[in-house]
Amino acid sequence: MARRKKVYEGKAKILYEGPEPGTLVQYFKDDATAFNAEKKDIIDGKGVLNNRLSEYFMTGLNNIGVPTHFIRRINMREQLIRSVEIIPLEVVVRNTAAGSMSKRLGIAEGTQLPRPIIEFYYKDDKLGDPLVTEEHIIAFGWATQQDLDDMVALALRVNDFMSGVMMAVGIKLVDFKIEIGRIWDNDYQRLVVADEISPDSCRLWDMETGQKLDKDVFRRDLGNLVDAYTEVARRLGVLPSNVTHHTKPTLIN
Ligand code: TMP
Repeated sequence: MARRKKVYEGKAKILYEGPEPGTLVQYFKDDATAFNAEKKDIIDGKGVLNNRLSEYFMTGLNNIGVPTHFIRRINMREQLIRSVEIIPLEVVVRNTAAGSMSKRLGIAEGTQLPRPIIEFYYKDDKLGDPLVTEEHIIAFGWATQQDLDDMVALALRVNDFMSGVMMAVGIKLVDFKIEIGRIWDNDYQRLVVADEISPDSCRLWDMETGQKLDKDVFRRDLGNLVDAYTEVARRLGVLPSNVTHHTKPTLIN
C-alpha cells in the first residue's frame, strides 16, 4: 500500500491526506485518554465502534440538513471527511448536570437543567482546555459574534437530533461535546460539525437503570468500556458484524 502522509495525530484519531484536494482520512485509534491524558489505556475495539457510531450520527445529521465534515466510511477504522479549519473551541451542550458542571457549581449529578446549557472551552492541552466566555472568544479572535450565533444554532440542532435518537433506544443524552470547523467556498464561509460524535464525547445514561454507557466508564473505572459502547451500537442497530471483542484491555503505562 502506498504510504500516506500523516497530517495530524491527536489522542484518539489520526488524520491522513485524502484522495482528493479538500479531503482527509480520519483514522480512529483504540487509545483512550482522560483528564488531559493523565490516564491512558488502549482499549481493543474502541476505534472500530467509534468510527461506526460517528458515521451513524454524522450521516443522520447530514440527512436532516445539519452540515458535517463526514463524507463516507472507508473501512473499519477510517472515514473520508472534508478538510476543515477547526475553530479552537470545544462546544459542550448539557441537558442534565454532570461532570465538570456538577463539580464547578455544586449541582448534584443527574439534576435536570431548565434548558440546554451551552459552554465553550478553549482547546489548549497545556492549559487543560479552560472554560471561556463569549467575551474571551471574540476579544481573542477565536470566532466572531456571527460564528458564535451559528455555533449555538448548530449545537442546539445536534442536541435535538442526538437526544431524540438516544431516547428512542432508551438512553438519556446527558451532555456532549462537538467541534466545529470552517469550510471555505471561495469567499463564503460555512460552519460544519467536525471531529467525531461518539460515546467518547457524550454522556449517555440508560433511562431505566442509570447505567453509564460512555467514556465515564473509563474515566471512573466503572467496568468494560467496549461492552458499554457495544451496547449503544447494538441498540442503534449499527453493530458491525466483525468487530473484534476482547475483554482484557492492554495497559500501556
Ligand atoms: P465535562 O463535564 O468533563 O466538562 O464534559 C462535558 C462533556 O464533554 C462530556 O460529554 C464529555 C465531553 N468531553 C469531551 O468530549 N472531551 C473533553 O476533553 C472533555 C473534558 C469533555
